[in-house]
Amino acid sequence: MRFLYYSKEKGEETFRKVLMINGSPDVKGCIHTAFLEAATIFEEAGIESEEIIVGPKDIRGCIGCRKCKTTGRCIFDDLVNETLPKLKEAQGVILGSPVYYGNPNGTLLSFIQRLFYSSPDDLHMKVGASVVSCRRG
Ligand SMILES: Cc1cc2nc3c(=O)[nH]c(=O)nc-3n(C[C@H](O)[C@H](O)[C@H](O)COP(=O)(O)O)c2cc1C
Repeated sequence: MRFLYYSKEKGEETFRKVLMINGSPDVKGCIHTAFLEAATIFEEAGIESEEIIVGPKDIRGCIGCRKCKTTGRCIFDDLVNETLPKLKEAQGVILGSPVYYGNPNGTLLSFIQRLFYSSPDDLHMKVGASVVSCRRG
């Protein structure tokens, strides 16, 4: 089976890769379990997937310096910059977060705010989804 995808840059292409961004500090927790299930389905469909483990990392927030607008990279050289080329390559992105006080967890928010701000054009036409895990809502 081949899934088609339309991107602004390249036009019609095959849907090849999904990035699964895991905000949970528990690397074997509920979000990871959901991503394992998703990876199995993607594999059956011939789509590659990669889990980016963010939760246990020391990821600081964006300082709005806008240096990334000229360099295409974040001034804080960490997992955000490592993920930028992977985001460019992927056609789909899934965000996974535990619910912390009714919100996505802080580490995930810091990560995606810096990642997305450093690469605004790369998000055009990507397919997005989210997974959350909570104790009671
Ligand atoms: C700081 C903190 C805040 C939390 N806030 C909520 C909340 O507002 N509502 C809720 O249902 N669960 C809350 N929880 C529980 C987590 O969402 C829950 O344990 C989740 O399943 C963890 O997912 P994980 O195993 O993928 O890390 C909180 C947990 C922590 C550590």
